[in-house]
Amino acid sequence: MKLNIAVLPGDGIGPEVTAQAIKVLKAIAMEFNHVFTFEKALVGACAMDKTGVPLPEETISICDKADAILFGAIGDPKYDNDPLATIRPEQGLLGLRKTFDLYTNIRPVIAYDDLLNKSSLKVKQIKGTNILIYRELASGIYFGDKHFSNDEASDVCKYKRSEIERITHLAFKAAQGRKHKLTLVDKANVLASSRLWRAIVTEIAKDYPDVTLDCMFVDNAAMELIINPRQFDVILTENMFGDILSEEASVIVGSIGLLASASIGDKHAMFEPIHGAYTKAKNKGIANPIASILSAAMLLDHFALYDEAALIREGVDKALNLHITTPDLNTKYDNISTTKVGDFIEDFINNPDETNLNFTNIHLGQSTII
Ligand code: IPM
Ligand code: MG
Repeated sequence: MKLNIAVLPGDGIGPEVTAQAIKVLKAIAMEFNHVFTFEKALVGACAMDKTGVPLPEETISICDKADAILFGAIGDPKYDNDPLATIRPEQGLLGLRKTFDLYTNIRPVIAYDDLLNKSSLKVKQIKGTNILIYRELASGIYFGDKHFSNDEASDVCKYKRSEIERITHLAFKAAQGRKHKLTLVDKANVLASSRLWRAIVTEIAKDYPDVTLDCMFVDNAAMELIINPRQFDVILTENMFGDILSEEASVIVGSIGLLASASIGDKHAMFEPIHGAYTKAKNKGIANPIASILSAAMLLDHFALYDEAALIREGVDKALNLHITTPDLNTKYDNISTTKVGDFIEDFINNPDETNLNFTNIHLGQSTII
């Protein structure tokens, strides 16, 4: 398959982690005889520094022509300190979501057996967790009318029926391929927009009789996610609740550096780690590239390259199992960098049957770490 991938490394650790995802995708292309081409473009604070805007026209045009977008991270503290600033790096990401109508954000939350003790939660509570969060991404309070003055400010949370319907069908279909359970998270006891969600989702549930629908208030869901995450299969929710709950859910997994996501529209798709720019870690070689690498696996899934995606996930599992991880997860070795994790997974893809058969001599591309 030929895929033209727009790469938007963005800010902070974005370029480092994205470089590992590209490395892994190139190894997959080689192994499976695909042709993947990569075209880089600016977004976020680095785009503001060079062009004055967070989402230059050129970036939009490169993404528009591409089959998929691989996104790194966005934001820089130097732009965080002025609450009155009208141009912000994050507008780059929000602009991409809006321009390409990427309305469905899919965030898998999986508790890896090898990492259970890395979570600050109890192992018996989180073991076996496997949740798919469907977060609405192109509407709601993020994109409603905004008003700001010295004395008053407001953000409108508005949803149209069609915006709720389209993601709801996708979420029900996802649940049909899993444990047949969908939990709608809302605040229908207070918010009118949530009441519309509940009415529409309940109505659509009739088309999916094999899926059990549960409705849960977001404050309760925030607690249930931590005390009993295994009860969830697919979670469907609006934009801001999804932002907050997915970040909370990363605690189950052990590191936010592991959570990948896919943002899907009818014509375009973007793949991005859920973590931010983590500017303090920039260029230190400590950023966890696995979220970006797993986002690349989601990209392959999107094009039905399931064996290819599975091989990447196997490489990730192997890396976690052998403690080939960055310091956020590693208590065994202290010298494993962002690049080394990428090298290991690349090497695994090149030699899936041979890599690291000898656990005492862990091979990382050209180098040996033990
Ligand atoms: C995310 C991020 C973004 C969001 C920010 C960077 C705008 O937190 O993708 O979860 O709020 O959606
Ligand atoms: Mg977030």
